[in-house]
Amino acid sequence: MSPIAALRRSLVSAARGNVAARGGVMKTLSPKAPVVAAAIPHLSSTSTFRSLSSSTMDTMETGTKMYMSLYPEGSTDGSLRLGNIVPDFSAETTHGPMESFHEWKKGKWAILFSHPADFTPVCTTEIGRLAMKYDELKSMDCLVATLSVDPVKSHTEWLRDVVAHCENQIKVEFPIIGDADRSISTAYGMIDPGTSDDQQLPLTIRAVFIINPENKLMLSLNYPACVGRNTDEIVRCVKALQLSYEKSIATPANWPENHADLPLKDGSRTDEFKGSVFLLPTVSPEEAKANYPDYHTCEVPSGIEYLRLVKSEDVEKK
Ligand code: BEZ
Repeated sequence: MSPIAALRRSLVSAARGNVAARGGVMKTLSPKAPVVAAAIPHLSSTSTFRSLSSSTMDTMETGTKMYMSLYPEGSTDGSLRLGNIVPDFSAETTHGPMESFHEWKKGKWAILFSHPADFTPVCTTEIGRLAMKYDELKSMDCLVATLSVDPVKSHTEWLRDVVAHCENQIKVEFPIIGDADRSISTAYGMIDPGTSDDQQLPLTIRAVFIINPENKLMLSLNYPACVGRNTDEIVRCVKALQLSYEKSIATPANWPENHADLPLKDGSRTDEFKGSVFLLPTVSPEEAKANYPDYHTCEVPSGIEYLRLVKSEDVEKK
């Protein structure tokens, strides 16, 4: 069975278990337990249906733990993928030498943001826009470093243009890494190893790596040179990742612009669940009720109760 099929099967199985448990029966996992355990190792009868006395948000696993346990920490083929510990490196930057990226970000969230080349139009706007978000990211305890294959001297000269193009309204307070030998870009998969010695082309793609306090790659975005990134989306991703790092939730599509108009059983509609988040499939009905008595289950034809929404203010309170 493919990993996707196994995951789908295990999530549906967990949700079905929740339905059964809602009827008051403490359910053990179905005969498909080995499949479930293989896809989500922590999804066992004990963790799925913990007793009520231990059902606190402190004991329920977080979204990060659940989803990241699906991926290994180490790459088996040298490619960097979600869940992997990111490669450490030393580098020259516009803020001086960075002896170790891991040490620099120690215990914090960080964004590593690459741009193809200095003195190019789209990159100029991207660094300016990122600078405008820097205070907000800093307040979220998220560091920022950017990078291109140009040398640091070039970055420093180019920054004058970046600031001027933002009508001198910004300061670029994050370091820009000079990856002139292309070793970091190659290690992070922004340049193919077979072409990384070519000092002309290719250039780094526009990549965003969002890395958690344990140095795990949590999210990456890859854009081509011809499309500039949206820095609102990057901040949104950090917020969503930080929420699922702390809580047993996952954020829906377009969060926090989601479920603004929800139908209720009595035929009325409500906007109360705008910006709400989903409880993880691994949260039992007992845990859900104990922690979020006001959660809302969306009805669907399958009858499986897996679309369980919690208002964001209720999540923040916990
Ligand atoms: C740009 O940022 O506009 C750009 C970067 C690399 C190649 C072409 C354009």
